[in-house]
Amino acid sequence: MMFGKILLFLVLVTTTAIGAAMAKNTYIIHMDKTKMGANLFRLGDSMQTYQAVIDSINKISLQEDDQEQQAELVYAYETAISGFAAKLSTKQLESLEKVDGFLSATPGKMLQLHTTNSQQFLGLQNGKGLLSASNSASDVIIGFLDTGISPEHVSFKDTGMPAVPSRWKGVCEEGTKFSKSNCNKKLIGARFFFKGYEAHYGRINETNEFLSARDNQGHVIKLGNGKVVEGVSLYSGDALTKPVPVAYLESTGIPASKFCLGTLNESLVEGKIVVCHGDNVFNPYLKSENVKKAKGVGMILVNPKFYGDELTANPHILPTAEVGYTADVASSNLAGPFDYGSGHVDPERAVDPGLIYDIAAQDYLNYLCSLNYTSSDIGLFTDGTFTCPQNIAFRAGDLNYPSFAFNFKGGVQNGSLEYKRTVTNVGIPTSSYAVQVEVPEGVSVIVKPKILSFNKLGQKLSYKVTVVGKSKTSSHSSFGSLTWVSGKFRVRSPIAVTWQ
Ligand SMILES: *[C@@H]1O[C@H](CO)[C@@H](O)[C@H](O)[C@H]1NC(C)=O
Ligand SMILES: *[C@@H]1O[C@H](CO)[C@@H](O)[C@H](O)[C@H]1NC(C)=O
Ligand SMILES: *[C@@H]1O[C@H](CO)[C@@H](O)[C@H](O)[C@H]1NC(C)=O
Ligand SMILES: *[C@@H]1O[C@H](CO)[C@@H](O)[C@H](O)[C@H]1NC(C)=O
Repeated sequence: MMFGKILLFLVLVTTTAIGAAMAKNTYIIHMDKTKMGANLFRLGDSMQTYQAVIDSINKISLQEDDQEQQAELVYAYETAISGFAAKLSTKQLESLEKVDGFLSATPGKMLQLHTTNSQQFLGLQNGKGLLSASNSASDVIIGFLDTGISPEHVSFKDTGMPAVPSRWKGVCEEGTKFSKSNCNKKLIGARFFFKGYEAHYGRINETNEFLSARDNQGHVIKLGNGKVVEGVSLYSGDALTKPVPVAYLESTGIPASKFCLGTLNESLVEGKIVVCHGDNVFNPYLKSENVKKAKGVGMILVNPKFYGDELTANPHILPTAEVGYTADVASSNLAGPFDYGSGHVDPERAVDPGLIYDIAAQDYLNYLCSLNYTSSDIGLFTDGTFTCPQNIAFRAGDLNYPSFAFNFKGGVQNGSLEYKRTVTNVGIPTSSYAVQVEVPEGVSVIVKPKILSFNKLGQKLSYKVTVVGKSKTSSHSSFGSLTWVSGKFRVRSPIAVTWQ
């Protein structure tokens, strides 16, 4: 496994107090190497090539303003993308945009961790199904991004592991309290990335943070009773199995209660799931501790506005659901597929789905063309030679995706839209699927054909879905689904209809 310090790699961009012209941000720069000047390209080594680009930027910026600080190269990228990370002023960025081969500059930003391990949430059980011994593959290398690891943790014991695959070219990077002997046949590599962080914030305070892949805090939490629990997923208790009342503390008259800070009123909280609003401090531990102290059984954490709808990975002492700001649990708006997509992933069933919606890389590129991305936008993640086909008109809805979005523009009530999908049989060779439709409000849905009969594996069959608007709905959107059913297989796609 390979761990990196994502916290240190992705850098927060803030408006700083220093003068705007002097302020520098760290950017990830995508370059199209094939379009870079021949002299630069000939340098071969990408670090050297990009340093030459930065040097040329510095020459320009020194001519214009000798007060300007030098641009700095932070990292060079050559595996997943071509490009580099650099610390640049706004002016230096402008110069860089004129360099041949420049594709884009993305300012670095600080991201919160997302949940990495939710075995229970995913319905996985140790020793069973996907996690049974007979199902465990060997010779698979898994990469993780994390804030760090404790290599001594029992889950990294390599007893019974085969030799490290010979194709492994990674490294076990040494650093503070992390030596090569911390890697073994299970934890085969570890690296840490912190230059982006230092480029923006200055030197790392080594009192708080190890300069290595070692974790000093992330996975350990101290409970209210002083007990220290270690684990990747901090809530390891049983999931709630029966419906439980929900408590909103906003009306208590105590402002801190809304945020689940301070002592919570036990007579309002006991036995309930408490809605806690996020504040501007990242303190979900404290909130769930307060809820637990007041005998609450669960917490719904509403992320503060500045997190938007990005859900953060929070260690939870109580069963906790996190919702994005716009879900606004206090209102009567129920969550729909726009909030939860196709729903809760069920990995046990997903590995044996019956039918799949196959998509090739080319289909995604055509999809991007249909959204009017330019060939140079798309060049960011292709080899730069792709151009959108001129003679074929793709519609976004034609992507062979297992969901449907029908948009009636201009308030058309009785319009009709039709999409085609192709499914591939990966279940039982001779099988027959019948369609079941949960019709969204305000439309009728026609699926043709209604039965798909397969006689071999890998066989592809297509169907068409037509949605006809019929009546005015009170809202701007409505939802339903389409499910192909055969024996134990249920292949479901959400349908979203919007009126604009
Ligand atoms: C580093 O962190 C420690 C502990 O939080 C703090 O006391 C110290 O002042 C910090 N040092 C610097 C240089 O910020
Ligand atoms: C706790 O809530 C109960 C029920 O609403 C109320 O009677 C009581 O005054 C509250 N206690 C405090 C300390 O606010
Ligand atoms: C893309 O551009 C075409 C032609 O200008 C336009 O008709 C179409 O609506 C655009 N598509 C999107 C998704 O913006
Ligand atoms: C929609 O309704 C209008 C007015 O009743 C009618 O002229 C039109 O033909 C209808 N369109 C469809 C697709 O049914």
